[in-house]
Amino acid sequence: MNITDDRISFDGVSAQTIAETYGTPTYVYEENRIRANFRRALAAFRKHYADFRFFYAIKCCNNLAIANILRQEGAGIDAASVNEILLAKALGLGGEDVMFSGNFLSDDDIRQGLESGVIFNLDDPSLLPRVLKFGKPECLAFRINPGYGKSEVGHFVTNAGPEAKFGVHPDQVMDAYRAAKDAGITRFGAHMMPGSCIRDPEYFGFITRLIMDLIGRASRELQIEFDFIDLGGGLGIPYKPEDKNAPLDIDAAAAQVATAFKEKIAEYGMKPPRLMMEPARYFVGDAGYIVGRVHTIKDSYSRIIGTDIGMNTLARPAMYGAYHHIYVDGRESEPRRPVGLCGQICENTDFWVKDRPLPEGITLGDLVVVENAGAYGYAMSYPYNGRLRPAEVLVNNGRHWLIRDREEFADLVRKVHVPAHLAPKA
Ligand SMILES: Cc1ncc(COP(=O)(O)O)c(C=O)c1O
Repeated sequence: MNITDDRISFDGVSAQTIAETYGTPTYVYEENRIRANFRRALAAFRKHYADFRFFYAIKCCNNLAIANILRQEGAGIDAASVNEILLAKALGLGGEDVMFSGNFLSDDDIRQGLESGVIFNLDDPSLLPRVLKFGKPECLAFRINPGYGKSEVGHFVTNAGPEAKFGVHPDQVMDAYRAAKDAGITRFGAHMMPGSCIRDPEYFGFITRLIMDLIGRASRELQIEFDFIDLGGGLGIPYKPEDKNAPLDIDAAAAQVATAFKEKIAEYGMKPPRLMMEPARYFVGDAGYIVGRVHTIKDSYSRIIGTDIGMNTLARPAMYGAYHHIYVDGRESEPRRPVGLCGQICENTDFWVKDRPLPEGITLGDLVVVENAGAYGYAMSYPYNGRLRPAEVLVNNGRHWLIRDREEFADLVRKVHVPAHLAPKA
């Protein structure tokens, strides 16, 4: 995103053009930024450990146009559900290019996951006999909860540690792999999700040592080798303006991980496994924005600016108390006054910004831009109150493409069936 003479643009496409061409609210993604984010991270990790690969956690932004950018860059896919395995298939990816890390799976999930032939990553040892009922995967991983997790998005987004619902307890790791070996599985992987939006490189070294101790002991005692270790996602981006001068030092994070990894491989005498990670936010988070419009301004107990960007468009602030920075097109150099900002949903959690210094002259019809909306943005949107999901647009060097239609009324009633005795008389 660029601001010149107060006017906002996205890789050469102005916010005005987006609003006039596609309406508001609209999600906008910068292709070149996604590529740059991916390449920076890949170069950092490969520099420190050559046998390295990223799997894109498609849950964070599942538009196939976006996922294809990452596929072109060489990413595999981390799928959280059978439908995400199907999304990967729509990208032309399957087999060992896809990792299925679902949790609390149904028998149907297990059967379809197994039939799809992707890498199976089990969230609990109790799943193993259920998998074996349907067939024996050649290669199997367990998601390990190393007993520690961290999140810069608040405790709601903790993916590991005693409070998390995910992963195999450290005390159960040995028995989990023993049972898999006894069942005749011959190739093994291990996985963890270290936390969310972390900008502290040392944390990645710390957590790598934790999981590698568990894996190293299993490798030694059970005489098994690991094909791969997947250290999950969690690479952070700064959301608040004051954090912008402290982005994650990706080279330092990669060095921390690789140093810990190699040290533990040597300590446990393991054959060096492939190192994998499956970030998402780091690739697309800061490459996505929402363009919305101011529709009503209300001076009541306080001044509230009403836009068409609500908790239905971007759930993170209402869900996690997440911070997103907001810009006003044409007014960024104006003096500011603290105001609130809300969407059009009948919930007070939709009053998602309070006392934020915004340009004083903000008025009806102005365009607002929400920053860092690429990850967990559209993918978590929903059509509550009949406020339908927005459009998605990709920009690249002055060109722009609609990559998902705005929902319309027909989408609200599609798949709904009214029994005859309830239907209004013609
Ligand atoms: C299993 C798994 N892998 C990867 C990710 C991606 O995380 P991030 O966007 O923090 O990199 C998530 C996010 O929730 C996840 O649950």
